[in-house]
Amino acid sequence: MKIKVLFVPFFAILHVVMAIINFSRSNGTACTLRGESAYPQLSKDGDIIVGGIFPFHSSWEITDFSYLVTPPPLKCKSLDFRAFQYSQSLIFAVEEINNSSSLLPGVSLGYKIYDTCGSTAVGVRMAMALMNGNDNTVLDEPCTKPAQVQAIIGESYSSVSMAVTKTIGPFSIPLISHYSTCECLSDKRKYPSFLRTIPSDYHQSRALAEMVRHFGWTWVGAIRRDDDYGNSGMAAFTEVAEGLGICLEYSLPFFKTYSQEKVLTIIEQIRSSTSRVIVGFLAHWDLEILLDIFIEHNITGYQWVGTEGWISDSVLATVDKHKILQGAIGLAIPKTNVNGLKEFILDVYPLKTAGDKPSEMENTFIDMSLLPILSNVYKGVYAIAHTLHGLLGCKQTCSTKKQPHPLTFLEHLKRVQFKTKMGEEVYFDINGDPAARYDIINWQTSKDQQHKFVSVGLYDSTFPAHSRLVVNMASIVWAQNTNHVPTSVCSERCPPGTRKAVQKGRPVCCYDCIPCAEGEISNITDSVQCEQCYQDYWSNPHRDECVKKQIEYLSYEEKMGILLTFFSIIGALMTTITAIIFFRYKNTPIVKANNSELSFLLLFSLTLCFLCSLTFIGRPSEWSCMLRHTAFGITFVLCISCVLGKTIVVLMAFRATLPGSNVMKWFGPPQQRLSVLAFTLIQVLICVLWLTISPPFPFRNLKHYKEKIILECHLGSTIGFWAVLGYIGFLALLCFVLAFLARKLPDNFNEAKLITFSMLIFCAVWITFIPAYVSSPGKFTVAVEIFAILASSFGLLFCIFLPKCYIIILKPEKNNKKQLMGKVPIK
Ligand SMILES: *[C@@H]1O[C@H](CO)[C@@H](O)[C@H](O)[C@H]1NC(C)=O
Ligand SMILES: *[C@@H]1O[C@H](CO)[C@@H](O)[C@H](O)[C@H]1NC(C)=O
Ligand SMILES: *[C@@H]1O[C@H](CO)[C@@H](O)[C@H](O)[C@H]1NC(C)=O
Ligand SMILES: *[C@@H]1O[C@H](CO)[C@@H](O)[C@H](O)[C@H]1NC(C)=O
Ligand SMILES: *[C@@H]1O[C@H](CO)[C@@H](O)[C@H](O)[C@H]1NC(C)=O
Ligand SMILES: *[C@@H]1O[C@H](CO)[C@@H](O)[C@H](O)[C@H]1NC(C)=O
Repeated sequence: MKIKVLFVPFFAILHVVMAIINFSRSNGTACTLRGESAYPQLSKDGDIIVGGIFPFHSSWEITDFSYLVTPPPLKCKSLDFRAFQYSQSLIFAVEEINNSSSLLPGVSLGYKIYDTCGSTAVGVRMAMALMNGNDNTVLDEPCTKPAQVQAIIGESYSSVSMAVTKTIGPFSIPLISHYSTCECLSDKRKYPSFLRTIPSDYHQSRALAEMVRHFGWTWVGAIRRDDDYGNSGMAAFTEVAEGLGICLEYSLPFFKTYSQEKVLTIIEQIRSSTSRVIVGFLAHWDLEILLDIFIEHNITGYQWVGTEGWISDSVLATVDKHKILQGAIGLAIPKTNVNGLKEFILDVYPLKTAGDKPSEMENTFIDMSLLPILSNVYKGVYAIAHTLHGLLGCKQTCSTKKQPHPLTFLEHLKRVQFKTKMGEEVYFDINGDPAARYDIINWQTSKDQQHKFVSVGLYDSTFPAHSRLVVNMASIVWAQNTNHVPTSVCSERCPPGTRKAVQKGRPVCCYDCIPCAEGEISNITDSVQCEQCYQDYWSNPHRDECVKKQIEYLSYEEKMGILLTFFSIIGALMTTITAIIFFRYKNTPIVKANNSELSFLLLFSLTLCFLCSLTFIGRPSEWSCMLRHTAFGITFVLCISCVLGKTIVVLMAFRATLPGSNVMKWFGPPQQRLSVLAFTLIQVLICVLWLTISPPFPFRNLKHYKEKIILECHLGSTIGFWAVLGYIGFLALLCFVLAFLARKLPDNFNEAKLITFSMLIFCAVWITFIPAYVSSPGKFTVAVEIFAILASSFGLLFCIFLPKCYIIILKPEKNNKKQLMGKVPIK
């Protein structure tokens, strides 16, 4: 729809309208209204009269009531041409019915139309006038006549409609409103005779809230008309909006009679707000006043959301005001065309007769943007006619012209159902309301700075909840002429990985985004809480996904595993080579002197020590766990018993050199073998006990680290473990003490010194190993353990065998008996 708005040639029109609106004075006494008697602005006689009350004026002069004298009648001001259009629509419908041969044939309808001034007081007076009549010639008769009108069409303002309905309700005179949308009027216990052809705000409030939600605005401000329309509509909107998670930053009342001071507070509150969307539950008159103030204070850039009360009103769309409302979006009564109505109204257009071209002079007077409301008036009149048609027994002709009883009429009116000329179905539901259907209107500016009301969607309350609102987002132009939906939120949305935390003392829409704790995630935007990951899962760094926990153990694939394997094999190889060298030179004095049998056993056990470190690498299994500690325990004991044997031999050998000694007999090779076997058997026994009572087993350690699972060997019995370790320690200590005692004894190869030194290394390595072992588990602990095994094995190998190999291979000349014995001091 394209509407050109030019400056209204105000006084020309005023002249014409004043002729129509004529307050006549009268001083009747008996069956007339007290005080001023009221004459209709427009009237025509007929068999049955249809009343009409419209706000030809929208305001009045405020006078101070002194309460000492009778208040003077209200002085109406601010002519509203729309009311004139409403009345023309009523007249058009009446004439059409009068002309029709099928509807109410032979019965003529008349009308009486009054001005309510938009005031409750005036409205009630005019309703009384409509019922009682204003003819002051019947002075002596009491007021016993039936009501003068069958039904009343009108009143725009909800508050006035409420007052009027309460007044005429007891007499069962129906009021059919074309524009009073207050939800409160649906209450049929309070307003039994109220019907309307415009949907109730019950639906409009919901539709508005759903629309606001649809566009993602959760932080909005609101201005409402401070009367029943605005207050009740906004209350319903607030309730629904809260349910949809929308928060109102402010909700301000406004009324045309508000003082300057009060208005300034409103302006201040809007100016200091952070929301970018204003929901206006207002009538066009309020907004006209408000917009002037907004322009004065330069309040622009807000996204307006409007009700049917102003959204399709082109009077607001004058260029300067349009700047503020540009992009506004709201609900409007769907356009319906009433054939001939527009022409009928334009025909009365006064300036046409003056010879001017009406096309050049389009203005509010001939503006048809409120055609849907005009059609509501039209439907109301037809509802009355159809009800009468049935009640008067009309077929070819009507059987009576007598006005039906009001109660009967009202009952039938509530149940009337018919189709208009244009095929639109008209009926009233149980609350006296029509079905709710709205167009969604968007204010857009065309290239030539004109504005258009573009229909961008619709809302139909008769559809299921999820499909009621249909919006074509692409066709909307938003405030400040942008193509993207403006944002109006108190807090930005919380991304995945965080959760909402409401700020204390503020609306629920204002919140902080708190990152999820470790092990918790949120994988949706605006999550209210973080969810704990399952046992084997852990949160990723972004906290938006649970990932499987990393499983940790020392494997053959990784660098550390390969390195340790390498060293253990090198160690085993070196031991084997040493053994080969010893075997090759087994008849040389140096090998013989050093108790070759024990040396070979020691080399064998050292090979096993090197190899047993391999059982610590790789994924722990039932077998590897059992093998690990027992193999380690037994091979080490075997190893140390050999060393111990050697130490004892050194000690004995010295004693043997003393005269009269026969010690060697006590510790010959059979005894040596036996002692090694005995020492080892004790360890084997400990291990067997451990394995049978409570063997080590593979274990998934979930507790120690939150973000990874440690695959380890559970010791089964800690006592078993410490017994094995303790026994090794005991033997090593014993060995060390004996070797220490023997260190000064004359021995060419300082066997005892070497053993002392090797045991020192051994003990040092294992003492450092123990703290590492009892600390947190993981693959590094295992690595330390392997390192300790390798280090102590290498220590033994190097200390005991390296010097001998050196002499055997590089200094063969020293390898003879003389050299060996030569340095032995003889005392
Ligand atoms: C108003 O109506 C009275 C009688 O009802 C009439 O005498 C008077 O001329 C009218 N005034 C105008 C301005 O039409
Ligand atoms: C007002 O009433 C007085 C006496 O009751 C009468 O003389 C006078 O003509 C009336 N005026 C009008 C305008 O009806
Ligand atoms: C209705 O029609 C009759 C003649 O058919 C005419 O006298 C009367 O003025 C008409 N009433 C209206 C309101 O047009
Ligand atoms: C009613 O009929 C009269 C005369 O036939 C005509 O002038 C008038 O325009 C008709 N009114 C409507 C609303 O059709
Ligand atoms: C109104 O505000 C706009 C920016 O919002 C600014 O550019 C303009 O100058 C202001 N006008 C007045 C009269 O303050
Ligand atoms: C979010 O996580 C839940 C389980 O916590 C899962 O069922 C859902 O599919 C996830 N949603 C998305 C979008 O990843």
